[in-house]
Amino acid sequence: MREPLGLGFTKEELDKEKENIHIGAFEDDELLGCCMLAKVDGETLQLRQMAVKNNLQRKGIGGSILSFAENLSRDKGYRKIMMHARDTAVGFYEKFGYIVTGEPFTEINLPHRIMEKNL
Ligand SMILES: CC(C)(COP(=O)(O)OP(=O)(O)OC[C@H]1O[C@@H](n2cnc3c(N)ncnc32)[C@H](O)[C@@H]1OP(=O)(O)O)[C@@H](O)C(=O)NCCC(=O)NCCS
Repeated sequence: MREPLGLGFTKEELDKEKENIHIGAFEDDELLGCCMLAKVDGETLQLRQMAVKNNLQRKGIGGSILSFAENLSRDKGYRKIMMHARDTAVGFYEKFGYIVTGEPFTEINLPHRIMEKNL
């Protein structure tokens, strides 16, 4: 998600991601979409790096990944999911019941909103 923006990850950032829950949708060996869940506290997970391959968007893959992530989070005892949503993705998360909280802000040079949903 950062490469098209000319950005990358540091080794430290990638090492830290090993602690997160990684979710992927595959067809055979091909990764179609993914997301990551990072622990915020005992009640809340942060959804990160939610993405579906460009040519496969708007076919239900993102929604399936998000629903799976929510079910998994519930099963693990978490009560809330939040994310830093790119402005362009706010409508997607709203479809699944997430609400915008707080003011707009800029992250990786893009406008974002904090969104959250109680599970
Ligand atoms: C945002 C993203 C993950 C959505 O995945 P997707 O597979 O295209 O989404 P789905 O096909 O499951 O869409 C589910 C619903 O959300 C809607 N939707 C999808 N993307 C949307 C968007 N950007 N804005 C508004 N609605 C959107 C769909 O039309 C569909 O609605 P419907 O059920 O009424 O038909 C995907 O478009 C993507 O990877 N975008 C680029 C990376 C990105 O912005 N990631 C989010 C960073 S916070």
